[in-house]
Amino acid sequence: MAGVTDRPFRQLCRAQGAGLAVSEMVSSNALLWGSVKTRRRIDHSGETAPVSVQIAGADPHRMAEAARFNVDNGAQIIDINMGCPAKKVCHVMAGSALLQDEPLVGRILDTVVRAVNVPVTLKIRTGWDAGHRNGLRVAHIAEQAGIQALAVHGRTRACGYRGTAEHDTAHAIKAAVSIPVIANGDITTPEQAVAVLDYTGADAVMIGRAAQGRPWIFREIDYFMRTGRRLPEPGPAEVCRILTAHLENLYAFYGEHTGVCVARKHIAWYSKGQHAGNAFREQVNRVATAAAQLRCVQDFFDRCADRQGLAA
Ligand SMILES: Cc1cc2nc3c(=O)[nH]c(=O)nc-3n(C[C@H](O)[C@H](O)[C@H](O)COP(=O)(O)O)c2cc1C
Repeated sequence: MAGVTDRPFRQLCRAQGAGLAVSEMVSSNALLWGSVKTRRRIDHSGETAPVSVQIAGADPHRMAEAARFNVDNGAQIIDINMGCPAKKVCHVMAGSALLQDEPLVGRILDTVVRAVNVPVTLKIRTGWDAGHRNGLRVAHIAEQAGIQALAVHGRTRACGYRGTAEHDTAHAIKAAVSIPVIANGDITTPEQAVAVLDYTGADAVMIGRAAQGRPWIFREIDYFMRTGRRLPEPGPAEVCRILTAHLENLYAFYGEHTGVCVARKHIAWYSKGQHAGNAFREQVNRVATAAAQLRCVQDFFDRCADRQGLAA
């Protein structure tokens, strides 16, 4: 997820049981590769293997070049984005806009697969809109091109993030191709993860937004799959410990000023649903140093723990 799955967050998700965590997308526009943003996105030092990097673009040769560039910078899997609905991406015929042009999809996949000697995976939506749901045809094109796994977000491009994701398309694709299929969209609990795996027959599920502020969802799913039981929710002290380590990694990765800014959305996600969360977020969004941010977070979760203690 662009703006979310930076290296600190990926490392945290892996530590919490995610089997794979894909980088934020890297544009195939080589002019951007020297930018601070891209340089951060291609920094994989200390990352748990396999390192998967997503690339986005619409020109087969530029995409191949981007794939090679990322492999040279440590990517062990190249993931191609044909799922992003963002206007910035779609207006230049990239992301999910590519689903409108199946021959171009084929050319991009063939060219990228031939360009690198690491596995290439693909992320798609189910089609352009309800009248053009060509996910199944794209899956066949992907398989023929040598794509090694296919993630299917159960919405069309036109859906944006509205409505509820469907998993019928992932089910149909899984039945029709022999490459691994990963079902994605609106999976927020271990029970849902298992239900989607059962329903689609998919080889894996992919979790996006439900990991924001809840990176332990991966170990919850893993535990539930192995035992059929739910892990207890982490208490405030445990959440505070995970968040504090996350924040320290953000400061180290981005530097203090940017790290404090990037951290704000994560802090908001972790504190969602907690008592007096709104007042806390207003307060913590005003502090500008790492020390003050950490103190605010610690005080807030201490208060949550006290409250829970009183209620027990
Ligand atoms: C903020 C945000 C950024 C995203 N960026 C990307 C991206 O760069 N590449 C991609 O393949 N999907 C991207 N997605 C889509 C997610 O990977 C996922 O397919 C979608 O959110 C549905 O899954 P979920 O319900 O588990 O979140 C993004 C989603 C969000 C919310």
